[in-house]
Amino acid sequence: MGKMSSPGTSCAGVAVTVLILLCSALRIGCEQLSVDYYQKTCPQVENIVRAEMIRKQAANPTTAGGTLRIFFHDCFVEGCDASVLISSTPDNKAERDAEINLSLPGDGFDAIARAKTAIEAKCPGTVSCADIISMATRDLISLIGGPYYPVKKGRKDGRISKAWRVAGNLPLPTMNVDRLTALFGSKGLTQAEMITLSGAHTVGFTHCKEFLHRIYSYNMTTHIDPTMNFQYAMALRRACPRVNLDPTIVVFNDVNSPRQFDNGFYRNLPQGLGLLGSDQILYTDPRSRVLAQRYASDQATFFDAFVAAMDKLGSVGVKTGTQGEVRRTCDAFN
Ligand code: HEM
Repeated sequence: MGKMSSPGTSCAGVAVTVLILLCSALRIGCEQLSVDYYQKTCPQVENIVRAEMIRKQAANPTTAGGTLRIFFHDCFVEGCDASVLISSTPDNKAERDAEINLSLPGDGFDAIARAKTAIEAKCPGTVSCADIISMATRDLISLIGGPYYPVKKGRKDGRISKAWRVAGNLPLPTMNVDRLTALFGSKGLTQAEMITLSGAHTVGFTHCKEFLHRIYSYNMTTHIDPTMNFQYAMALRRACPRVNLDPTIVVFNDVNSPRQFDNGFYRNLPQGLGLLGSDQILYTDPRSRVLAQRYASDQATFFDAFVAAMDKLGSVGVKTGTQGEVRRTCDAFN
C-alpha cells in the first residue's frame, strides 16, 4: 500500500508531464512571466533601464516613438523575443532588414543597446534583451506623458530572426478594419485591443510614402482621400512633394501634440487628421468609431486600456525557460 501513489497524485503528475511536453512541442512558453522576476538576480534592473532611458530620450527625443514601434514589431514576429534586434550576417538576412523594418529608427536600437551594456556591467548574463525592450518601452512612454505601469519579465531571447518570416505578420496602412482585426486576432489580440494599441500613433513619425496615395492618387474620381481633412492634405502635399520626393522626409503622426503621449491620436480622427489610412479608418468604420470616440473624450480610459493591451502585447509568443537564451549582446545570438 505504502508504495502506491493515489490516483489523484498520478493523474496530476501525468497532466503536468503532458503539459510540459505540449509546451515544448508547440514551442510556447508555459512558465509565467512575473513583475519581480529579477528580484533576486538583478534587483536594480528597473532603475538601470530607467536611468538609461532618461538620458537617451533627453539626448534624442525621437527615441520613445522608435522604441515603441520596435517593441510592436518584435512581438508580432516570432513573439516578444528580441528577434528584431539581431543584425544580419553573410548567411542570415535578419528581421531588421525586412523592407517594413528598414524604417525602424537607429535611436530605438541604440537605447536598448545602452541599457543592455549598463545591465551587463552589474548583472552579467541575467537579463534578456526581450525584457529590456519591454521595460525601456514602458519607461519611454511614461517619460513623454503616458502612463507608468508594471512590466512582467522572464522572457527569453529567440534564436531565430529571418527577414523572410516578417511578411504577413505586421499590419499595413492600407488595411481595413476587418484585415487589421484578423491580423491582431491571429496574435491573440481583440479588435478593441487593436484600436487601443493604434493609439501609439499619438507619437512618432511617418515617411511620406506611407500616405502618398491618400494625398495624390486616392482613386479615379478623387485625388485626395475624402476622409482626410483638406487643409491637412494640402499641408502634407507641401511636406511631401510628388516630384523629386526626398525619401527621408518624415511628418509627425499626431499633428497637434507630436511628442506627447496622450489621446491626441483619437481627438484628431473626427477632424480627418489621421495620417495613415489605417488610422483614419478607425473613425470611418462605425464598428471601431465607438471606442475611438470614447478614447477621444476620456484620456484616463484610453490610458487604462493601453496599459492592459501593452501587457497582453508583451506576452505574445514569449519564450521562457529553455525555449530561448539570454543574449550577451542584443544584436547577435550567443
Ligand atoms: C494598426 C496597425 C498599424 C499600422 C498599419 C502601422 C503602421 C505604421 C507605419 C506605416 C508607420 C510609419 C513608419 C515610418 O514611415 O517610419 C508607423 C509608425 C509607428 N507605429 Fe505603427 N502601425 C500600426 C500599429 C502600431 C502599434 C500597435 C504600435 C505600438 C503599440 C505602433 C507604433 C508605432 C510608432 C510609435 C510609430 C512611430 C515610429 C517612429 O517615430 O519612429 N504602431 N506605424
